[in-house]
Amino acid sequence: MGLVSAKEMLEKAAAGGYAVGQFNINNLEWTKAILQTAQKANSPVILGVSEGAGKYMCGFKTVAAMVKAMIEELGITVPVALHLDHGTYEGAVKCIKAGFSSIMFDGSHYPIEENIAKTTALKNACDVLGLSLEAEVGAIGGEEDGVIGGGELADPKECKMVADLGVTMLAAGIGNIHGVYPANWKGLNFDVLTAIHEAVGGKPLVLHGGTGIPDDMVKKAISLGVAKINVNTECQLVFQEATRAYIEAGKDKQGKGFDPRKLLAPGAQAICDKVYEKMELFGSIGKA
Ligand code: 13P
Repeated sequence: MGLVSAKEMLEKAAAGGYAVGQFNINNLEWTKAILQTAQKANSPVILGVSEGAGKYMCGFKTVAAMVKAMIEELGITVPVALHLDHGTYEGAVKCIKAGFSSIMFDGSHYPIEENIAKTTALKNACDVLGLSLEAEVGAIGGEEDGVIGGGELADPKECKMVADLGVTMLAAGIGNIHGVYPANWKGLNFDVLTAIHEAVGGKPLVLHGGTGIPDDMVKKAISLGVAKINVNTECQLVFQEATRAYIEAGKDKQGKGFDPRKLLAPGAQAICDKVYEKMELFGSIGKA
């Protein structure tokens, strides 16, 4: 099928009361693990690429070429969107040129007028090329590639202004934070989410910081219009844990254990298991 825009999969998810997972990729092994899991689960999937991860993987062109080739070589038939995560304006332009099928422009740190102007310019380009566009209002807390957000609660009126530009989906701060939630975290603010959902008239909403949100809150967020949920840290944690266990058990020293393919295999399997678990929670299994 090749890469697709995230528009159709998110509109179906919003109408069907489930969410599509965005899982961030960092290398070939992660990408392969997520694609194979989506295929096994018969679920649509969004591969998220931060600017830092894009740089690490030799640039957005390399990433797009790798993902497109993998879809073909692995025989992936479920819908896959390749999405820039928290892009700058310049990063968004690069990803559009590199062949991504979906873009996030994070203008949440600009004054709303500038956020709207930049989002509008990218929206026009994405429309011409048939790409989906995610905009953000109200910074998500925590750290994302060195960018620290303050965990704001988005203003529903500003959300409406940005949603009305015709973007495909909207990320809005509702008390969510990237990375592991601190012990004193107050939880998602469902009053704000409800107000945003009403203000944007059913536009698919995106929940960032999907790591560590209790299952009941995730389900409630989906029932209030969240159609895309981003998960990154949780995959990093299980990858690290599985790799460490393999090394601590001395398996890297047995037989051909020094083979890097063997060393990375337990981590890749842990990502497959985590992604499947999340797809079950989000309700996207069988929805391809
Ligand atoms: P976590 O790292 O908290 O899972 O958040 C991922 C994310 O929102 C990427 O944009």
